[in-house]
Amino acid sequence: MLHKLKNWLNPIQLPQSDDFIRRLPSLVIGEGMLHRGNITLLEYAIQHLPEQGSVVEIGSYGGLSTNLITHLLQKYHKNHLLFNCDAWIYEGYKDHLGESGPGIDGRDDVSRTDYALYLKNAFVQATRFLHPQRLPHSFHLRSEVFFQKWQQNSPETDLFGRTVTLGGPIALAYIDGDHSYEGAMSDFEHTAQYLVKNGFILLDDSADHLPFGSAAMMREIKQDRRFRVINKNPNYLIQRVG
Ligand SMILES: C[S@@+](CC[C@H](N)C(=O)[O-])C[C@H]1O[C@@H](n2cnc3c(N)ncnc32)[C@H](O)[C@@H]1O
Repeated sequence: MLHKLKNWLNPIQLPQSDDFIRRLPSLVIGEGMLHRGNITLLEYAIQHLPEQGSVVEIGSYGGLSTNLITHLLQKYHKNHLLFNCDAWIYEGYKDHLGESGPGIDGRDDVSRTDYALYLKNAFVQATRFLHPQRLPHSFHLRSEVFFQKWQQNSPETDLFGRTVTLGGPIALAYIDGDHSYEGAMSDFEHTAQYLVKNGFILLDDSADHLPFGSAAMMREIKQDRRFRVINKNPNYLIQRVG
């Protein structure tokens, strides 16, 4: 009841009309993972992107948010590079209860390894199909390792076979990987090290009512004077001010 009242008081701001964005969720895997409110927040951040820095996405899954971000970068004529990573691991609903078997969701005939490979292949296929001229620099890495390489300015070969040097300033990060408190905090702190002034972070599953570690973390970040809240929809978009 309280939840319904909160939704009524703070209705979600939906994305502006854009036929490609309307089409995307039925074209690329991941509709269940991408809150529609995040689309509006990403669109705002990309329209107001600082000139310097790259865009970083943690957690790419089947490519829905990656192709959305790439589309928005093109739409607003932003030449920023997009770097992203995913560990492509299966995350079971009951893993945290220690109930993990070899298969997915009660289906022992569908292995976790095959599931992860299916999603990674889907990511590559969708991205090649939709943005062949503007492929992101994508890496099959856990975010901790991705940020280590970012710190080392390490040259790496991405999933599309191009060698690129990681590192440097970040203008926008979409953090949507490990939603535990420790995982989200690690991604947030790593990003904060490189985030330019007026740069943005959108933290998925940070909405006030959610039971995830990422939401608990956001309650702490709201006290962090380096950042201001731009909007919550219901997840938080924050901007570096100091
Ligand atoms: C919610 S999904 C991402 C959805 C995607 N951003 C979208 O909207 O289309 C979370 C992803 O994070 C990945 N992940 C979980 N922990 C990770 C970690 N430590 N490093 C990198 N990726 C991680 C999972 O493999 C999963 O694909």
